[in-house]
Amino acid sequence: MNDTHDRTAWLKGGESHCVHPPRTVSRPWKLALLGPPGVGKGTQAQLLAQRLGACHLSTGDVFRAAKSCDETELTPALATAMDRMRSGELVDDDLVLQMIYERRQCLNCRGGFLLDGFPRTVVQAETLERFLNWENLALDAVVNYDLELDEIVERLAGRRSCSGCKAVTHVSELSPPALDRCKVCGEKLVQREDDRPEAIRVRMKVYQESAAPLADFYRQRRVLVSIVAKGSAAEICDRTVAALEGVTAGRPG
Ligand code: AP5
Repeated sequence: MNDTHDRTAWLKGGESHCVHPPRTVSRPWKLALLGPPGVGKGTQAQLLAQRLGACHLSTGDVFRAAKSCDETELTPALATAMDRMRSGELVDDDLVLQMIYERRQCLNCRGGFLLDGFPRTVVQAETLERFLNWENLALDAVVNYDLELDEIVERLAGRRSCSGCKAVTHVSELSPPALDRCKVCGEKLVQREDDRPEAIRVRMKVYQESAAPLADFYRQRRVLVSIVAKGSAAEICDRTVAALEGVTAGRPG
């Protein structure tokens, strides 16, 4: 399946609607992607969105979209969130959960959803479970990506994001003369502020503190699927889809 849909309802929240919502699919997957910063969750979410038809719901993308607002438009809570992101710390649970609450219509998306970067704490996971219960929904699987630190650092150091369509790429995939231009839409590629070495160190530490309790939470619910994130992005996507089909075989769709 190769479906191009927009994410307006997710990125803007509130009463916003998508201009091109995902198509109705026979199996709307409800997934969350976990793993360290730079392991490739966003890249996999883009590929899985095309394969499965589900919408890519990234909390980091929502905060980065807010960052491009005029400073005077930011509430004090959002301004604090921007500072925390810059330094590599997590944004407070209350603000993250309020943001998800305002976008809860996306959990009912007819194409399904791929949560990327959420939940990140057990409090967030418990609240997500409550939001899903209200809608009579449950996660089909929580995919936990894993990779050695050296490779993660290499991926983060070379990451570039499009200032227009937000597509993520790596400098190794770019060739002259378009070294600073997005291959998808042609807009300028930029490096994320939190990909500075000091911020990467903080993000890794924060991740290591929260990862085990979160994985345990989903292991207890028997939805955790571990995937080795080595190899090309396409290979990892194939591995993920095969694992998802395996673990959910026999469960009602
Ligand atoms: P967020 O945006 O969620 O960032 P992250 O979790 O740190 O993850 P990244 O986006 O850095 O990495 P990724 O795993 O998506 O890797 P990618 O696909 O880009 O969060 C940012 C911040 O927002 C947080 O630090 C926090 O402050 C705040 N925040 C967000 N959500 C929050 C929450 N729920 N609670 C509290 N705070 C929250 O890939 C990386 C690079 O590798 C790219 O260049 C890519 O092209 C390349 N690559 C990918 N796959 C491969 C491959 N197979 N081979 C070679 N290169 C590859």
